[in-house]
Amino acid sequence: MPEPWNTFIEGDNLEVLPTLPAGGVDLIYVDPPYNTGNDFAYRDDFRGERGTGALGRHAAWTAMMRPRLVEARRVLSPGGAIFVSIDDHEVAHLRLLMDEVFGEANLLGQIVVNLNPKGRQLGRGFATSHEYLLAYARELPRCALDASSPSTVVESDFPLVAEDGRRYRRLPLRNTNKKFNPATAPTLHFPLWGDPGSGRVAAEPFAGGTRIEPVFGDGSPAVWRWSVPRIEERAGDLECRPVRGARGERVDVFQRDWLHPLGGARRRKKLRTIWLAEEIGSTDTAVAELKAVLGHVFESPKPTGLVRRILETMPEDARVLDFFAGSGTTGHAVALANAADGGSRTCLSVNSAEPTRPGSNAERAGYPTVAAITRARLRAVAERVGGGFAEVGPATAAERRAR
Ligand SMILES: C[S@@+](CC[C@H](N)C(=O)[O-])C[C@H]1O[C@@H](n2cnc3c(N)ncnc32)[C@H](O)[C@@H]1O
Repeated sequence: MPEPWNTFIEGDNLEVLPTLPAGGVDLIYVDPPYNTGNDFAYRDDFRGERGTGALGRHAAWTAMMRPRLVEARRVLSPGGAIFVSIDDHEVAHLRLLMDEVFGEANLLGQIVVNLNPKGRQLGRGFATSHEYLLAYARELPRCALDASSPSTVVESDFPLVAEDGRRYRRLPLRNTNKKFNPATAPTLHFPLWGDPGSGRVAAEPFAGGTRIEPVFGDGSPAVWRWSVPRIEERAGDLECRPVRGARGERVDVFQRDWLHPLGGARRRKKLRTIWLAEEIGSTDTAVAELKAVLGHVFESPKPTGLVRRILETMPEDARVLDFFAGSGTTGHAVALANAADGGSRTCLSVNSAEPTRPGSNAERAGYPTVAAITRARLRAVAERVGGGFAEVGPATAAERRAR
C-alpha cells in the first residue's frame, strides 16, 4: 500500500524527532512559537537560563530551539532544505542559531513574507505587515531546491506572438553582463550572419546575410550567450533585427524566448525574496481556509499558499516534515499540491497535546488539545482532497521512513 499523503504523530517534537531515521526527509517547514511573551508553552525546563528580562527570554527560546534544529538537520536528506517562519521577536537570534546549526554557507535566503497587508494597528511603532522565512540547505552544493516557481510566470512578460500563435519575448543574444567579454570568455566571441529582412541567423555566411559581431552599446567587443553548436541546433529560436542605438542603426541578433517552450518542462520564474499576500495569501486567508474545514479554532494559522510556494521549490515527490504542525496547514498544502500536479509528496506532522485555552473557540468546539485540531484537519483534508491519513506512534513512523 502506498504511504498516505498525510501522517500525524502526537507528541513533544523533542521526543519524536530522535525516533526518525537520519536523512529520511527532504523538506522541513516549521512555524515555531514566536516568543511574543504569551506563547511560551513548551515544557522543557530552561528556567535556569530564562532569568529575567529580554535577554533571558531570548536565551530560553534559543535553548528550546537549538536541540530541535540539530535533530531537524539530522533527519534532512543531503539534498534537503529547511524553511522556518519567524517574526521580529526572534529573527535575529534564529538567524544566528541557524548559522550555527546549518552553517552560514548553507543560507538559501531570508524571505520577507507579507502576511498582514493592512499592517498591525496595535502598539506604538510602524504597522508591521510582514514576517520572515529563513531558508537553509542541508548541504548547499547538493541541495535539490530550485528557487523558482511555475506559478509566478506572467503572460504579459511575453508580449510578442510568433507566426504559429506562440507567445515570446525578445532577449539579446549578446551577453549584456560586462564581466563576460572576449578576454574572459574567448570561445563565445565569434561572428554570426543575419538577414534583417527574413530574420534568418546562421553561424556560417549565407547569400544576403550580413556579418554581425557581438558588441556592447558603446561599440566595444562583447560575447554571445550561446556557443556555435547551440546556435546551429536552435537557429529557429533566433531572430536578426535592425536596432537603433547611440551610434546609429545596425543589425543585431535576438533570442525568441518562448512562454511555452516546445517539448520542454513547464516554464518557471525565479522567486524574489519578498512574497506578497496577494500571491500567497494572508493570515486572514489562512483563518478563512481553516474556518471552511473546522471552524475558527486556531488563532494564527499560515495560509496554504505560503507552504505551496515552498513546496514548488522542491521535487514533486518530496518527503515533508512539520514538527510544529499547529492546525495542520503544511499537511493541507501537501494534499492540495499533489491534487493539483499529480505529485506524490508525503507529509509527517507532529504536534504536542498542548491544551487549548479554556473558553476558547477551540475548546468550546470540542478540541481539548492542539493535537486534536491537527488530527481533525488532516482527517478532513483526506476526505475532501484525498491522499489518505494515518496516525501513528513514533516507532511506526520511523519504520515507514526507513523503508
Ligand atoms: C505557531 S503554531 C504553528 C501553526 C501552524 N503553522 C499552522 O498553520 O497552523 C506552533 C505550534 O507548535 C506547537 N508546539 C509548541 N511546542 C511544541 C513541542 N515541543 N512539540 C510539538 N509541538 C509543539 C504548538 O502547539 C503550536 O500549535
